[in-house]
Amino acid sequence: MKSTIVLLGPPGSGKGTQGEKLSDEFGYVRLSTGDMLREAVRNGTELGKKAKSYMDAGGLVPNDIIIGLMKEKIAACNGKVLLDGFPRTVEQADALAEQLDVDLALNLDVADEELISRLTNRRSCPDCNAVYHLVTKKPKKDGVCDKCGAQLYQRDDDKEATVKNRLEVYRKNTMPLIDYYQKKGTLVTIMGVGSIDEIYEKVRKAVQRISMRGGPPPRPLPLCQTSRSIPSPRCWPYPNLYLSPLFRVIQ
Ligand code: AP5
Repeated sequence: MKSTIVLLGPPGSGKGTQGEKLSDEFGYVRLSTGDMLREAVRNGTELGKKAKSYMDAGGLVPNDIIIGLMKEKIAACNGKVLLDGFPRTVEQADALAEQLDVDLALNLDVADEELISRLTNRRSCPDCNAVYHLVTKKPKKDGVCDKCGAQLYQRDDDKEATVKNRLEVYRKNTMPLIDYYQKKGTLVTIMGVGSIDEIYEKVRKAVQRISMRGGPPPRPLPLCQTSRSIPSPRCWPYPNLYLSPLFRVIQ
């Protein structure tokens, strides 16, 4: 079944971190415009050449480039899609609305001071795009990606001066999308402060709610549950829903 989630929030609010966990658990295909653009820059493609100067300055890549890119990527996905970093302007949101319906716009709310600290301490993997933090999410071995063993690096746009500009750009261009999705009735705002796992608990509850509304169910449970058996608490990942009437409807 089709389902689309948009991740909103300022730079460093945890869109990538939470998006990775969501796609692992619920099977969403995560499309991150930032990852795509950085890869294009690294590979020296036409897209990368056009995007680089905007990214280095902490500005937005022009709408026509991004909309063209995302239309193709989204068209190639036929199921559950998680959009991380797109849309970022009202024009992009309108273009997306022409292509598909957004079921949930998840907005992560974090104060500027915390964002600046997170971004200046972030280290990223150039190969698999995994994200680390020098204090809150250290790799097992200093400077080396846990997942693929590549050397971690600091993004050029994570230097403090550029981060401040990115926050300005966010406020001017992307914040209006909070209102945009609020009016469409699909917005859920989550305070993105606390541990990564604490925030994820809130995020996954919001996603479960759209599954309950008739969206796609989470990935199949382990084999210890059959369709007729009562799930054991060990297998059923949503203890709060276990005894609820809603649960029985879903069964
Ligand atoms: P993009 O890569 O999308 O950057 P962004 O939106 O600024 O988001 P970030 O990747 O910086 O942060 P995040 O929210 O994903 O946080 P993360 O999980 O990494 O875009 C880069 C550039 O590309 C843009 O500036 C623009 O030029 C261009 N671009 C992209 N999309 C575009 C579009 N649609 N239109 C035009 N231009 C576009 O977390 C950050 C750090 O915090 C990590 O170190 C993480 O470990 C840590 N962390 C996460 N959660 C917590 C927590 N709860 N507590 C402590 N630390 C935490």
